[in-house]
Amino acid sequence: MMARARGAVAQWGHRNRKMILVAAVVAALLAINLPPAWTLATGMWHDHEIHTPAYLAEHGRWDVLELPSDIRVNAIHAAVLPTGKVLIVAGSGNDRAQFDSGTFKTLVYDPVTGQGHLVPTPADLFCGGHAFLPDGKLLVAGGTKRYELLDGAVTHAAGAMTVKNEFPDGAARTFPRGTEFIAPGGQRYRAASDFTLAPASKVVAPAGPPVVTASQTRVWVEAEEPGPAGVTAQRGQYAVAGLEGPDLRNIYGLAEKMTLDKQDYQGLPDSYEFDPVTETYRRVGDMHEARWYPTLTGLTNGQVLAVSGLDDVGQIVDGQNETYDPNAKVWTERPDLKRYFPTYPALFQTGGPDTLFYSGANSGYGPAEAGRVPGLWNLATNQFTPVPGMRDPDLLETAGSGWVGTVQRQKVMVVGGGGVGESSRSTGRIDTVDLSAPNPHYVPGPSLPEGTRYPNLVTLPDDTTLITGGSSDYRGKSGTDNHTSRIYHPDNDTLSVAADPTVGRNYHSEALLLPGGQVLTLGSDALFGDPKNLTPATFEQRIEIYSPPYLFQGARPTVTGGPDSLARGASADFSTPDAANIATARLIRPAAATHVTNLEQRSIALDIVRKDGAVSVRVPPEQSLVPAGFYMLFMTDTHGVPSVARWVRVP
Ligand code: CU
Ligand code: CU
Repeated sequence: MMARARGAVAQWGHRNRKMILVAAVVAALLAINLPPAWTLATGMWHDHEIHTPAYLAEHGRWDVLELPSDIRVNAIHAAVLPTGKVLIVAGSGNDRAQFDSGTFKTLVYDPVTGQGHLVPTPADLFCGGHAFLPDGKLLVAGGTKRYELLDGAVTHAAGAMTVKNEFPDGAARTFPRGTEFIAPGGQRYRAASDFTLAPASKVVAPAGPPVVTASQTRVWVEAEEPGPAGVTAQRGQYAVAGLEGPDLRNIYGLAEKMTLDKQDYQGLPDSYEFDPVTETYRRVGDMHEARWYPTLTGLTNGQVLAVSGLDDVGQIVDGQNETYDPNAKVWTERPDLKRYFPTYPALFQTGGPDTLFYSGANSGYGPAEAGRVPGLWNLATNQFTPVPGMRDPDLLETAGSGWVGTVQRQKVMVVGGGGVGESSRSTGRIDTVDLSAPNPHYVPGPSLPEGTRYPNLVTLPDDTTLITGGSSDYRGKSGTDNHTSRIYHPDNDTLSVAADPTVGRNYHSEALLLPGGQVLTLGSDALFGDPKNLTPATFEQRIEIYSPPYLFQGARPTVTGGPDSLARGASADFSTPDAANIATARLIRPAAATHVTNLEQRSIALDIVRKDGAVSVRVPPEQSLVPAGFYMLFMTDTHGVPSVARWVRVP
């Protein structure tokens, strides 16, 4: 109740402000011991108020939805598929018991029929990355190889072992999980997984002996002896037990240290394409790096760039980036694009040639000093140009960011965020940057009423942005879910008040624009289940759907026909009985969201010509503005009311 009352104080700016303020002051005076009758009375008043036509037309409405228990999943990742269904990926769902039992879940949910079904999930895709491919499939890469072990939970010293092979001939050799490494001092360590060593490379020089370069791989090892006996701070060479003769000389391990320190999550290199038609995953080439918390960003040429993440031994990938070719279905290492980012960096494909924009928003892991400065990254030269002016630059972890209005504006907003790691600091800052300016820099925008980590941003068909959810403290600690939503208006750089969502959403939550023009929100993974932080929380499995004010303004325009495919630079007619009243047409790329990053979402303004019974639309010719793929075509009338979207493919 307190959260609701506080939301009401912050939000209600209309006829009833006085009454609500009185209620809030009384509530504050009485602290949490509100007389039940008073609470009930204000609650009933509130319930009545938020369902009046005038309120709906100004603030919209939220509706909570509970799925049948057999298809409830922990929504770690969510995407809108070109079939109109929603893909919800849990993997193990941040649930160690599910991980241990190998229970990995994916739900395909149809928001039109309300039906959903689980589909087989081939690996623990929990905390991987994703991006849409030109053919409408969703590339999903990375995931969880092992859960973290916190301080005090580590019983056996462990560390990363680099294994080398100096023997250039013969085939690759695979060693099983449990393979022993023997330290110079005799301590033994076991490999936590299988590992494979390629032969060393041998280059025959024109004169002189051939040059042999050892191959290497890496494996996580754990001491056989429990406790401090296995701890060492000494860099050392380790023998592989069971090898003899030349093998013993050629194949060995190298490790920096073995410790009882906290052990972070470990990533997977697995990649899959999810087919929205067959609703199945298909395995494609592995990434060169294992990645947990990576960002996948589509490039102008239809390839996908993967950056950052924690690797197979739980260390943050140190700038080794790679690209996926959807035709060959393989990943290629890109040493020419070496650049370090913290985990889940927000990287947007800009309208500039070969240029990505790092908004500065990120989520999860990495030291405070490295890779936190926003900027433009030129992929042709690997030059990075910082973009200055961001307020609260130390509060960008768990910030939200997205395009402001249509992508033709080349304007990005950064919303909220918090301190690095488990910090209680957060900000309500909204800053925007015009990337088309000669020297782009952030400028101050309006502020959210409270500090907001984990805000989800959704671009709506009328060019506004819904900013919803979040919490002021880390993972909603101390009952700090915000329970508020705002609508950002790009034309005058202001916020208006949206209705309050019922369900609080913090870590591991998403918000997606549906083809119907509503916004579906899901997930939330609080650290604690009570405001005193005494009990563990359960993962929020309720869905809540927001109907924006434009759905309460009377009849919607309808689009009754038109082509399924629309090339860049081409025009086509879409039939509509409302042609005379159509004001705008937008192609909106469907969301693929996780961890406050939703890089797919973009809205493209189409030139329109009103005809008799039809509207002709023209797609911009620039590939950087309109990446190939599937889009929702919305036509919006002169009152700002959008049609239901039609799916259109841009080849
Ligand atoms: Cu309220
Ligand atoms: Cu996560």
